[in-house]
Amino acid sequence: MSKHVAVLMGGLSVEREVSLVSGDECARALESRGYRVTRVDAGHDLPRKLDELQPDCVFNALHGRLGEDGRVQGLLDWMRIPYTHSGVLASAIAMDKPMALRLFGGAGMRTPEGRVMTLAEVLAAPPFDAPYVVKPAAEGSSVGVTIIHEEDSRALSERNDVDPKARVLVERYIPGRELTCAILGDRALTVTEIAPNKGFYDYCAKYTEGYASHILPAPVEETVLQQVQEWSLAAHRLLGCRGVSRSDFRYDPARGESGLFILEINTQPGMTPLSLVPEQAAHCGMEFADLLVELVEAARCDF
Ligand SMILES: Nc1ncnc2c1ncn2[C@@H]1O[C@H](COP(=O)(O)OP(=O)(O)OP(=O)(O)O)[C@@H](O)[C@H]1O
Ligand SMILES: [Mg+2]
Repeated sequence: MSKHVAVLMGGLSVEREVSLVSGDECARALESRGYRVTRVDAGHDLPRKLDELQPDCVFNALHGRLGEDGRVQGLLDWMRIPYTHSGVLASAIAMDKPMALRLFGGAGMRTPEGRVMTLAEVLAAPPFDAPYVVKPAAEGSSVGVTIIHEEDSRALSERNDVDPKARVLVERYIPGRELTCAILGDRALTVTEIAPNKGFYDYCAKYTEGYASHILPAPVEETVLQQVQEWSLAAHRLLGCRGVSRSDFRYDPARGESGLFILEINTQPGMTPLSLVPEQAAHCGMEFADLLVELVEAARCDF
């Protein structure tokens, strides 16, 4: 009998809509490969739904809080349901950018100079001269990432979606280019350059066709390509990620050999038709469905 896969999608984070799109794409691709698939909108009643369904495994198509930060992974461990992607610890650390960056720095990877403080403290006394970047210490999809370009923090004080007491990560702005690399299993796929057509690579550009061009393999020096792939694999292994991950970088060519900076690792990278990981897999000759089958067949839980 075919394997019964519950695709978890939607969920309770600000990335709900993105997850619904990617979840449905994943469900359809898995059906095309003969799996029995149930689409599950992951609300507060998720434990009851899973208990009724008794799936053979879960395909995690959630993004953001609860779905990407180790909490749903803990629930699935508890229920002994094998699931795709990373487990509790890797997910939780990756979601906490300051924590992940501390580990990456300790392992010899270059990270942007940064400070963790409250938004109120940043407004009172910014730790760096502009340009600098302010981001929530734990959230995805550029929701809440603000680049302060001039010597004023108006852009920040006008934000009403960030609690002044919230912990934010303030980083020096790294000019230059945006690179990203997926790790599937234990191999780097390729490196993509994301060249925004205007402004910075924000939530809108990332999910709207035509706002950003993806160039792969990235047209950068061979040494940079190699370092991106090595660091992506090192970051994936350091946190103990499973299945697939995608690490994001900035590269400042003006700094030459020391111009590469790792920004973060994503343990639930996007799986929409526009997404970077499926695109890298295709470049390596892997169809979207092949990628998902590999993830489903590697599903496990820690119990
Ligand atoms: N220190 C920095 N210097 C220059 N640009 C930055 C810096 N930090 C973030 N950015 C820009 O903001 C974007 C989003 O930042 P980051 O990847 O840290 O946030 P995110 O919310 O986790 O995004 P996602 O999870 O969707 O990749 C980056 O892709 C980059 O374009
Ligand atoms: Mg990112």
